[in-house]
Amino acid sequence: MQSHKLILILAGASLVALTSVSAYAEFAERPEGAAFGEPIAEDELALWDIDITTPTGANLPEGEGTVATGREVYAAQCAHCHGDDPAEGGVMYGTMVGGIGTMTERPRVLTPGSMYPYAPILFDYVRRAMPLDNPQSMTADEVYAVSAYLYHLNGLVDEDFVMNAATMPTIEMPNRDAFFDDDRPDTSAERCMENCEPIGTVADGDYLTAGQPVEDDETPDPSESQVQGGGTGGTVIMGDDEDAEATED
Ligand code: HEC
Repeated sequence: MQSHKLILILAGASLVALTSVSAYAEFAERPEGAAFGEPIAEDELALWDIDITTPTGANLPEGEGTVATGREVYAAQCAHCHGDDPAEGGVMYGTMVGGIGTMTERPRVLTPGSMYPYAPILFDYVRRAMPLDNPQSMTADEVYAVSAYLYHLNGLVDEDFVMNAATMPTIEMPNRDAFFDDDRPDTSAERCMENCEPIGTVADGDYLTAGQPVEDDETPDPSESQVQGGGTGGTVIMGDDEDAEATED
């Protein structure tokens, strides 16, 4: 009981404070840094800081793996979803091999070999997201090894290749120069890599004027959007979309 009363009194007091202008000034002078909890220690942060600069391979960790070890890692940790043979595919995903040169064809076949512009993307993706039922559980050695195996099957490295932070960025990816800036008019945006303006939010754009919703008929209907669900494992990726079927018929 005692503490309930205290909370009520505090709540009342802060309501009064909120309505006064000086209270806003105090909010504006909030100290730098985290407002709640404790600052995170560097070694704790390191567990989250697993981004790799994929064009250069910067931040690839120590460790290494071979094609032979990767074959074992694959059988133990990947085959139950991706199939015994990564070229055939499995219950959860299609092939991870080949498709090189199909980017402008129908069906195009997206695999790490055919699609990724930089080899370290495979390390970043597998370490972060795979195995799907136990992500971020693999050692760096295992990720290097399974990457060596998959790139070997894609014909990009020899059987005796040793994958590590130094060798991975040197792999020549067939699709390296085929990406281009999105030129669809409805997605156009100035590229900015430094000192950029804040991106803002929907509330800053045309959807709201002076805090009021625009007329109903001007509000974009999300169901009419051209942008369909993401993910690289979707039907279009595997070259099975309606257009492709139509041409096959
Ligand atoms: C529990 C099932 C499951 C397991 C186990 C699994 N994967 Fe996957 N994997 C998936 C699914 C589902 C996708 C498609 C995800 C998507 O498109 O968002 C995928 C996608 C991928 C991709 C394609 C990424 C891309 O860019 O299209 C790679 C590469 C991959 N997995 C590697 C592995 C490796 C290596 C292992 C073993 C260490 C593994 N996966 C284990 C289910 C699994």
